[in-house]
Amino acid sequence: MSGPLEPVDSLEPGERSHEATVEAIAAALPQWLPSQRWFAGKDREVTGVRPLTWSTILDGDPLLLHLVVEVEQDDRAEPYQLLVGSRRSEVPDVASSVTIVDVDGATFYEACGDADLTSALLDSMADGTLVDGLHFESEPGAELARGLRAHPITTEQSNTSLVYGSQYILKLFRKLSPGVNKDLLLHRALREVGSQHIAEPLGSISGTLAGEPTTIGMLQRFMTDAVDGWVMATTSVRDLMADPSVAPEELGGDFAGEASRLGAAVADVHADLRTALGTEDADADELERTVQVMLDRLDRVAADVPELAPHVPGLRDAFDAMRHHPVPVEMQYVHGDLHLGQVLRTLGGWLILDFEGEPAASVAERSRLRSALRDVAGMLRSFDYAAQQLLVGRPDDPILTDVAMSWAHRNREAFCDGYAEVAGSDPRDAAVLLRALELDKAVYEVSYEHANRPDWLSVPLASIERIMTEGSS
Ligand SMILES: Nc1ncnc2c1ncn2[C@@H]1O[C@H](COP(=O)(O)OP(=O)(O)O)[C@@H](O)[C@H]1O
Ligand SMILES: [Mg+2]
Repeated sequence: MSGPLEPVDSLEPGERSHEATVEAIAAALPQWLPSQRWFAGKDREVTGVRPLTWSTILDGDPLLLHLVVEVEQDDRAEPYQLLVGSRRSEVPDVASSVTIVDVDGATFYEACGDADLTSALLDSMADGTLVDGLHFESEPGAELARGLRAHPITTEQSNTSLVYGSQYILKLFRKLSPGVNKDLLLHRALREVGSQHIAEPLGSISGTLAGEPTTIGMLQRFMTDAVDGWVMATTSVRDLMADPSVAPEELGGDFAGEASRLGAAVADVHADLRTALGTEDADADELERTVQVMLDRLDRVAADVPELAPHVPGLRDAFDAMRHHPVPVEMQYVHGDLHLGQVLRTLGGWLILDFEGEPAASVAERSRLRSALRDVAGMLRSFDYAAQQLLVGRPDDPILTDVAMSWAHRNREAFCDGYAEVAGSDPRDAAVLLRALELDKAVYEVSYEHANRPDWLSVPLASIERIMTEGSS
């Protein structure tokens, strides 16, 4: 067995088993990583991959290694985790599509799809074992079943999640940062105050990164009765577009009732986060810094995207106006990346998932206390996206555009109504702040779509135009 998780640099060559194998795998990764969906660095070349730490979860044949590598791309170097399997005989089908490298007659492959190997992860959490520097734990009070087989979920995501039987889902965080992951931290805090709107956290896996205990995986209850919020919302829009003559409130698939319940659930979660983790006041200086961040972003994006130019003066005014918002502004832990793809409708109500925060933001930024209105703004933007996504790439159709606009309006209002009812204060009353947050998000979307999906640029641009003309949403 090799030693606990420590930087490879500090170890003598030959001191650890599988070292040569790990080196060979790392050498193959610059080629292999960019083809992986979860790899966040596809925008630039991988200039080097260095093993930071590794552990042997299963030794012999088959072999299961856990690997943390540092991926270098010009000016940045980020740690990613991999599960690597190998077998000398009977290589499973799944291995061929995810082969990383062949070493001495053995095929090494990304092992998340190999159910014979991944069952060891759940069993180790059930047993609460320390395996070669990795801590497998169940959460207090959780009795985990052993021996379940897992399959990776196929929905688009930035991490890799394995579903065990129909009971558990294990998320392996791909890009790591030292410390307890914010997703786990907030799930634990919310469970402690009895939140009804989360999938219960049941276990975790952690290693060591930069000398700090670091979360690499989180196990939660898997909801078999769950429907994705984005799927529900876009189905409702599609139904309406299929027959634009029907009023939305008369349509079977009207979403407004759900939007309102979702608003109530988000308000509940915000209140629970305040109870569990407290609040802080942001003063005028902090407000000023926020305004400055928004203005800077606007300048950067406007320099890249000419289509934004006509809106720049209005956007500037909207951000400047935040300076007149009364201080202090209450800050708290928030979700940080809330949209319809992060919520699940179950028979028991809405659940909120994935509290890790904005993937592009720094860890410090993600962990900061923020106004709850950020999440409200995120969800309001998501309603616009759900409504307009069917218009992308189609010739202009005033009737369908009208349908999309009124669906979005109806559901944004319903969401705010539901939120206000539970929160006791209406997010629309903080109109200047909410408007600025929505517009800031839309400016970010403009830069994202410009870089990744030029066809979609019309979605945030149309929203900016709407918000500007309406005054507020
Ligand atoms: N507890 C759960 N029950 C059922 N499905 C889930 C659960 N947790 C996550 N999912 C599904 O997995 C997807 C990705 O989960 P998420 O936590 O958002 O991961 P990521 O960080 O990769 O975005 C969700 O959109 C949802 O479809
Ligand atoms: Mg997610």
